[in-house]
Amino acid sequence: MKDKLIKIKNTVLDKLNTVNNEVELKAIDLQYFSRKGEISELMHHLKELSSEQKREIGALANQIKKELESKMKETRSFFDEKTNLNEVSDITLPGRKLKKGHLHPITIIQREVEDLFTSLGFSIIDGPELESDYYNFSALNIPPLHPARDMQDTFYVSSPDDKKQELDLVMRTHTSPVQIRAMKKYGAPLKVVIPGRCFRNEATDARHEHTFYQFEGMMIGENINFSNLKSLLEIVGKKLFGEDTKLRMRPKYYPFVEPGNNGEYTCFLCGGKGCRVCKNTGWLEIVGAGLIHPDVLRAGGVDPEKYSGLAFGFGLTRLAMLKYAVNDARLFNSGDLRFLEQF
Ligand code: DAH
Repeated sequence: MKDKLIKIKNTVLDKLNTVNNEVELKAIDLQYFSRKGEISELMHHLKELSSEQKREIGALANQIKKELESKMKETRSFFDEKTNLNEVSDITLPGRKLKKGHLHPITIIQREVEDLFTSLGFSIIDGPELESDYYNFSALNIPPLHPARDMQDTFYVSSPDDKKQELDLVMRTHTSPVQIRAMKKYGAPLKVVIPGRCFRNEATDARHEHTFYQFEGMMIGENINFSNLKSLLEIVGKKLFGEDTKLRMRPKYYPFVEPGNNGEYTCFLCGGKGCRVCKNTGWLEIVGAGLIHPDVLRAGGVDPEKYSGLAFGFGLTRLAMLKYAVNDARLFNSGDLRFLEQF
């Protein structure tokens, strides 16, 4: 019995070591490992032994059985792996294209404008999206109860102490508060641009979204004047809409600049003749701008007797809508790939 066991062990190990393919493996499985196979058969005969022999040979039989089964398992997985490998390495199959991501349309426009300003010597800076009421409004000449607050309703976050207004937090309604932060941090002279996300409490529709992007610019120095602002905005217009673009500036009230104005560019679609995009006026209202109000300079710790500054701000979301002919502002934040894949 013992000899038989050792013999079967050696034969099976031999066979498993030299097996060439799955068909042969199947045959070995059937011959030795199946329910009526030679190993089961042998185990069956253990019953006929005396109890003393059973103890010795039974242990040996179990050990050999286990060894063979594990070798069998190993051999089988070797062939399984081989089949899997064969499947993926069929070089005659056409390749599977990997989906590659790309920049968001707002990011594309933002980088384009950033490139222009860095080439003009401006630095790009950042500010918090959750801003203090003070920086977002009061420091920009919009005190509490000022009617200009109505134009920029936002999401208010209450502070533990209602009397301490500086601690009240709001989701910033524009990138302008970073003007104050920049002045405080870097002082004058200063040339910075501030791209960023802004928020307003809007009843959203195709032209209004609660979350949108702006681009702010500020330049402070001795003798910065309106001509500087005008020439800068002319360069911006040419970069954004082409060399033939013309600028016109019309007075507009913004509490943080004086004089304040609206920069309008000739419509890039009709060249100023009037069309659907410019609502037949020939002009596109793009940028709010002006010379920084002395109170605002003061709030930033800059002496208005010594320095003056220009500032401007426009909507990147609106710009992207115009340039890419997008008819709904809400698409930009929708995460809808059918929209995003078009860029
Ligand atoms: N902050 C203004 C807005 O959100 C835009 C703006 C207007 C920015 C005039 C400026 C400026 O810096 O001078 O509507």
